[in-house]
Amino acid sequence: MIVLGIETSCDETSVSIVEKKKNSSFGNVLAEQTLSQIKKHKKFGGVVPELASREHSNNLDWLVKKSLKLCNLQYDKMDAFAATTGPGLLGALLVGSNYAKALAIGSRKPFLSINHLQGHILVSRMKKKIDFPFLCLLVSGGHCQIILAKNFNKFKVIGETLDDAVGEVFDKTSRILGYGYPGGPIIENLAKKSKGKYKFKLPKPLINKMTFDLSFSGLKTSVRRLIEKGINNNQKADLAFEFQQIITECLIKKVELSINHLKKKYNINNFILSGGVASNFFLRSKFKKMCKKKKISFFAPDKNLCVDNATMIAWAGLEILANGKKGNRIHFPPKPRWRIDKL
Ligand code: KG4
Ligand code: ZN
Repeated sequence: MIVLGIETSCDETSVSIVEKKKNSSFGNVLAEQTLSQIKKHKKFGGVVPELASREHSNNLDWLVKKSLKLCNLQYDKMDAFAATTGPGLLGALLVGSNYAKALAIGSRKPFLSINHLQGHILVSRMKKKIDFPFLCLLVSGGHCQIILAKNFNKFKVIGETLDDAVGEVFDKTSRILGYGYPGGPIIENLAKKSKGKYKFKLPKPLINKMTFDLSFSGLKTSVRRLIEKGINNNQKADLAFEFQQIITECLIKKVELSINHLKKKYNINNFILSGGVASNFFLRSKFKKMCKKKKISFFAPDKNLCVDNATMIAWAGLEILANGKKGNRIHFPPKPRWRIDKL
């Protein structure tokens, strides 16, 4: 089976053609083309929705054609066309999903509507055997959720942020520090320069509360106050380190709590870290250690599959097909808000 996937929920225009052989559980990427709009949005300090839609609209067609050319396939060789239909920016979602729907109608093949978060979660299964149920921490620019994946189409949110998403906090903090967008990689690199000389005693919101939920807005405000008082470059590096460490600590605490809670009912042997923030090496290494302690296996996708990409959308489409769900979702409208537990 071959699925052409399209991802346009935010600021990446991505097309991917993924194949799953009949007797294999894994996927093989035949072609992937991703065009990042980061440079276009950088000067605005964040993603401008209208600009994102225009860029998708300008680039999607040639990216699809280039992808097909790269693997020497025609539209009629696709078994289905999949696109992100939410959550995300409405205009951006409309561009990608309508394009994929048109391809599906023209080729008389099913259109598969994919939840962006489902893509982030399932892509780990493309190259590694990870049985359901498993626990996943999804941390991206728009989301921070601890999710129990019961099967390819059934997810339960165990805990989530009550305010900002983790990536959003990295992005905003980078901006307050006077650096650019996206903030995650900038702060991660800045933290590497830390000499550990200055301590800021940043708050650890909800850390000692018996809740699976998280909160980051207080942390962001504390960083803002410190910077407004004025700090030098050495202090900035130490602040970035402490900030990254505290976020990691809060996330680990709640994931550990979730594992302990779920173990009574489910056989959780696998933990997955996914979403754009999962490309943070510090976070990955700390979670790996935690999983070792808990005797469960740890997995995080390669960096290019952590950030937004269409391979995860095509792969989610293949999982749907493999489970015999070919239901054509051509009339399914894009949903800017679409929870993973309401598929
Ligand atoms: O999954 P993603 O590409 O898009 C959304 O679905 O939101 O995630 C983008 C987010 C941005 O907020 C970015 O700052 C963050 O992921 N990010 C990181 C790192 N690389 C990207 N955050 C922390 N450390 C990183 N190395
Ligand atoms: Zn994402």
